[in-house]
Amino acid sequence: MKTIILKGKNYKIDEKGESPMMQQLVAQGAEIVAACNGAGICQTCAFKVVKGKFTDKGDTEKMLDLPEGQRLSCQCKPTTDGEIELIY
Ligand code: FES
Repeated sequence: MKTIILKGKNYKIDEKGESPMMQQLVAQGAEIVAACNGAGICQTCAFKVVKGKFTDKGDTEKMLDLPEGQRLSCQCKPTTDGEIELIY
């Protein structure tokens, strides 16, 4: 279990489970825009890494031209405790 800080609140993320970070954050009450519902298309779930490390980019994220330090919360999980800032 890893701890992710978002807007000053701590969220517990099961990095070994099936569910991507976005779904786990939303299940704990975080307000994340997820227009494509986790398909990796809309980029509305994007976040900036403030602290911590996350799983390597998969094919979906590699195809997108995300700015340096930005990831999609529906496509990754933390590998350490960390802090993120939502882009939208
Ligand atoms: S929810 Fe659409 S890219 Fe993550």
